[in-house]
Amino acid sequence: MRNTQATQLIFEMSRIGRRATVLPPLDLPVPAVDQLVPKDHQAEAPLPLPELAEGDVVRHFVNLSTLNMSVDTHFYPLGSCTMKYNPKRNERLCSLPGFSAVHPLQDPATIQGLLQALYELQGMLAEISGLPGVSLQPAAGAHGELTALMVAAAYFRDRGENRTVVLTADSAHGTNPASAAMVGYETRTVKSRSNGLVDVDDLKSKLDGSVAVFMLTNPNTLGLFDSQIREITSLVHEHGGLIYLDGANMNAILGITRPGDFGADLMHYNPHKTFSGPHGGGGPGAGPICVRDFLAKYLPQPIVMKNGDTYHLGTGENESGTNDSIGRVRSFFGNVGVLLRAYCYIRTYGGLGLRRVSEDAVLGANYLLSRVKHILDVPHGDRCMHEFVASASKIKKARGLSAMDLAKRILDYGFHAPTVYFPLVVDEAVMVEPTETESKETLDAFAAALFRITDEAPELVHEAPHSTKISRPDDVTASRRPIVRWTPE
Ligand SMILES: Cc1ncc(COP(=O)(O)O)c(C=O)c1O
Repeated sequence: MRNTQATQLIFEMSRIGRRATVLPPLDLPVPAVDQLVPKDHQAEAPLPLPELAEGDVVRHFVNLSTLNMSVDTHFYPLGSCTMKYNPKRNERLCSLPGFSAVHPLQDPATIQGLLQALYELQGMLAEISGLPGVSLQPAAGAHGELTALMVAAAYFRDRGENRTVVLTADSAHGTNPASAAMVGYETRTVKSRSNGLVDVDDLKSKLDGSVAVFMLTNPNTLGLFDSQIREITSLVHEHGGLIYLDGANMNAILGITRPGDFGADLMHYNPHKTFSGPHGGGGPGAGPICVRDFLAKYLPQPIVMKNGDTYHLGTGENESGTNDSIGRVRSFFGNVGVLLRAYCYIRTYGGLGLRRVSEDAVLGANYLLSRVKHILDVPHGDRCMHEFVASASKIKKARGLSAMDLAKRILDYGFHAPTVYFPLVVDEAVMVEPTETESKETLDAFAAALFRITDEAPELVHEAPHSTKISRPDDVTASRRPIVRWTPE
């Protein structure tokens, strides 16, 4: 039963004079305020802060925390976001004082352990990707895209090549064309075929000497591995272009195949997905990038380097004392807390363990796909990688239930909603990513809930969710004109 009293605004719960603590009377002489603070710096009236008893404060925040869903409380199959369970040991390890109580301006000699962890992480990311140059600086996946495209631009500038176009796949995440535009490239879209894979003929028709980079997500946002990848990368290379791999879906291929081996030249990781960093709630994130050897000199600096047994922040000047780096894209060493969680995760699993992570993610997604396809159409095949995209199109025509209706109603059954209306290439898309951390029982319960919803009275589903504090906000107004400030009446 919800405690509606405790989930009012804290200002509404406030009562004048109510206190959490009563301090003992001062046993020292009390100076006049005017002696301590000049008159013109004093507030005219006390600040209108909420006044509550300790128990009210605790109930308020504990109850508020139960109004939302999280990976610690619910199954969270939000496609493309990889909301897997975040092992608590990573939190504990990255909070060790040697990691969390240091200052980035400290002498490197006093933070050798931290630098060693970051250095080793660079090596692990290089090994997993098959691309030797690594920068830990970017602060999110999208920032990694931007940084890698700046690296590509520096490379072409150095070669005296004026390439102005970046190609993106039509199933790409919106950040791909956005990053390209921010670096000053014109973007053109490469179509997919009806099977969800790149239309190679369309790619050929768009390839010429003006193309700098083709940005590709593989496995793509439909949860499909593009088996034409070698042909695609060869074609782009033949035209002098580079292949950027959006690594948001690396959780499907860890230890199985490597972007560097199938022809990618640059890529980013989303450690908050692949390596279980906490996410949702606005960050901080990280988006380390890996590049081929001939691109490494353009990476942001500093990079953590090792000299004998000592670690330092290197600027990588070449022999003539010049430097080709694009410069810093983030202060200090990047978002170290997130990077350390990735480091702990990778070290915990080891090589074989990471492969097992991906195998289980793919197994779980295929199992759920085999259940869901009896309820919703899955337009792009019977098999998937780590996620799949179903369509509510038929059920919308037959029973008036849209993808949004299903997403809203599933909340009443105690599951976070799947991603809906993305990718845009599927009508009424319902994108499900169970991740490797879920049991068969959870996947069965989710499929059973979906099955029941499609049989429910449409009016009940249209008005869902019925169990949440807010049901169907006006999404556009909520994001364009959010009211985040309380004003007394
Ligand atoms: C395929 C893909 N590429 C890029 C991104 C951007 O990553 P970030 O949110 O870390 O900026 C996402 C995020 O969901 C994604 O799914």
